[in-house]
Amino acid sequence: MKKLFVKTYGCQMNVYDSARMTELLAPLGYGPVAAPEEADMVILNTCHIREKAVEKVYSELGRLKQIKQTRPLTIAVAGCVAQAEGAEIIRRAPQVDIVVGPQSYHRLPEMIAKIARAGGHALETDFPALEKFDVLPKDSSASGVTAFLTVQEGCDKFCTFCVVPYTRGAEYSRSVAQVEDEARNLVARGAREITLLGQNVNAYRGEGPDGKDWSLARLLDRLSRIAGLARLRYTTSHPRDMGDDLIAAHGDLEALMPFLHLPVQSGSDKVLAAMNRGHTADDYRRIVAGIRAARPDIALSSDFIVGFPGESDKDFDDTLALVRDVGYAGAFSFKYSPRPGTPAAAGGKQIPAEVKDARLQALNALLLRQQEAFRDACRGRLMDVLFEKPGRQAGQAIGRSPYLQPVHVEDAAALIGGIHPVRIDASFPNSLKGSLVSSREKVLTH
Ligand code: 5AD
Ligand code: SF4
Repeated sequence: MKKLFVKTYGCQMNVYDSARMTELLAPLGYGPVAAPEEADMVILNTCHIREKAVEKVYSELGRLKQIKQTRPLTIAVAGCVAQAEGAEIIRRAPQVDIVVGPQSYHRLPEMIAKIARAGGHALETDFPALEKFDVLPKDSSASGVTAFLTVQEGCDKFCTFCVVPYTRGAEYSRSVAQVEDEARNLVARGAREITLLGQNVNAYRGEGPDGKDWSLARLLDRLSRIAGLARLRYTTSHPRDMGDDLIAAHGDLEALMPFLHLPVQSGSDKVLAAMNRGHTADDYRRIVAGIRAARPDIALSSDFIVGFPGESDKDFDDTLALVRDVGYAGAFSFKYSPRPGTPAAAGGKQIPAEVKDARLQALNALLLRQQEAFRDACRGRLMDVLFEKPGRQAGQAIGRSPYLQPVHVEDAAALIGGIHPVRIDASFPNSLKGSLVSSREKVLTH
């Protein structure tokens, strides 16, 4: 058997793609290993979203070069850095054999054969998106209680800070039939929860069985009918595509979990306009109010960018005000990082590093207080937990709350794969601790 090590950077879409690449290479005799030191082939599935992510890839390539100096090793760079940098990667890091973009990785087997036959390098960075999902193995070998499923890729929004429209290409949705097949397959292999993925997942417009374009809300409704599939989630969404039917789905579909990642980036209308987000801060407030009306127990998370070109103190205060108004259970905040080829990198007044640092700190302090408050409010609550895997202690199991928090429970190892009510006894920065609720107690509390 040949040994394959895949290292994944960035978003959940990359996690999904890495799993598909691993499946794709299995028939060629590649089996996964846990470290590059053991591998015959290493794939770095990369992220181009911020400068730091790109630097990490080049420093990992430096480490791999040292391994390659002592023995044969095939090195492939996949993902968004591959797409954005293309041949530049091979120029800067000639130890790389293969460069393959996110829409062409189904061609990996041919590329591996080509370099085995003729040596040299292989490079594919086309956008044959329609082809990829047709060519990839139909039967996923993935097994697990929770699974990802890509339903949509690419982005037509062109936020002025973002490389995604350039690295992942135009919006494309898979058909309802294709998504449903894959979902049924995942459920047959043990999945109880599926997270639908897309760079703009709620812009989903896939061909339905009636030949018409279906929305994400209709797709979710369809999938919620699959027997054995208990939980559905979707990520990442754009506020502009939060249609009325999708908001209503949060009230109507029991399987749709009450936790939504809805990035707003900024609370300043001036900055939102300069970012080309296509909505105001109040539009976002109204959308959140609508979702909360449909599903009162929903918790929200968001992405924020501080120090976008031209962001004033007042603009930043508007972001803090929005955060206070909405109240988040989780969040990712980033310092603006100019990305080559994007409009915001070229124009506008760039913000000094120390101002970005100070704003990031202030924003994170506020978000952290909100996260702590949310966590504390979980204590004493009864939550349905989907048990995923054994914990470190004997008999212990780790599951997920509806809000994606890991929950540690004693004497629950036999329950893996099931959903059971748990009383939350304690909360920690990244997890909760709970105990199983007896059926008598369950009757009393419901
Ligand atoms: N600089 C900083 N953060 C960025 N993001 C995307 N592009 C940039 C950039 N150039 C953030 C956004 C997005 C998340 C995935 O990454 O907040 O929602
Ligand atoms: Fe990037 Fe904006 Fe598209 Fe999200 S919606 S992927 S931030 S361009």
